[in-house]
Amino acid sequence: MTAKPRIVITRRLPPAVETRAEALFEIERNPTDTVLTSEQVLERAERHRADALLICLSERLDAGVIARLPASLRMISTYSVGTNHIDLAAARARGITVGYTPDATTNATADVAMLLLLAACRRAQEHQATLRSGAWGAWNAWDTLGTDPEGKVLGLVGFGRIGRAVARRARGFGLSIAYHQRHRLSPDLEDGAVFHPTLESLFRASRIVSLHTPSTPETIGQINRDSLSWLPDSAILINTARGDQVVDDHLIEGLRQGRLAAAGLDVFAGEPAFDRRYLDLPNAYLLPHIGTSTVETRDRMGFDALANLEDFFAGRPPRWKVV
Ligand code: DGY
Repeated sequence: MTAKPRIVITRRLPPAVETRAEALFEIERNPTDTVLTSEQVLERAERHRADALLICLSERLDAGVIARLPASLRMISTYSVGTNHIDLAAARARGITVGYTPDATTNATADVAMLLLLAACRRAQEHQATLRSGAWGAWNAWDTLGTDPEGKVLGLVGFGRIGRAVARRARGFGLSIAYHQRHRLSPDLEDGAVFHPTLESLFRASRIVSLHTPSTPETIGQINRDSLSWLPDSAILINTARGDQVVDDHLIEGLRQGRLAAAGLDVFAGEPAFDRRYLDLPNAYLLPHIGTSTVETRDRMGFDALANLEDFFAGRPPRWKVV
């Protein structure tokens, strides 16, 4: 009988995923689920003579770490659609294959974008604060009114799997869809969405914008004073992608001044730390990176991350391969 591949799993995963991992591979787990430092990841990979790592977005594998991984290590499977925590060029240069879980994450993340969008349109946080503080008075026709999504333009920055899933949902609320990304899609994928060749033209045409781009040198900091100034007054910004695409100082300034109606943020630069000034803003809708946090999605992400490993060790290209 051939030995099972040896896999270091850096975090706790849902029970069904861990059970399947135990059946398929020889596993080194992290029962306490503490976030491992790069040195601890390296030490475990070395000690276990790992053939592969199964990591989460909490483990940062930069070029220096990848260079020091043991020679036995041939694959990194990340339990995420985002890959900005891995230096892909360094992995490619070392001949390490990287797999990810793009299909599993689509719907749940799109749902959270809509959750934030609707909450921001309807000023749900301010109304909830009124109720919780005991200040709920007689019904009135004029106070703290939100805005209808119906008839507004939703500008999607990035029109990949998640952007298109948001578009499908948003059409049901009467929003019309516009998008910007590097390449225009075919008409069947656009499904009526209007392509904008620049971020500026998208922002000038949109009342609500939602980010669905990976973090790259081009997108990091793309929400800044300049790009925010292209939005119409009372615009709403949603971010379920990555926090480093937003310059917090500039967004906070726009929210404070009321030039932007609201922002809905599920992701933050440097999370779990985040700019605490958001907490003082009634028009900042904040979630702690829960885009994929449903039972079904987290299970599926795990099964897909394992399927990538199974493919690789069976001599096939992983079905969700990055490099
Ligand atoms: C991902 O998969 O990259 C998500 O951000 C995790 O929730």
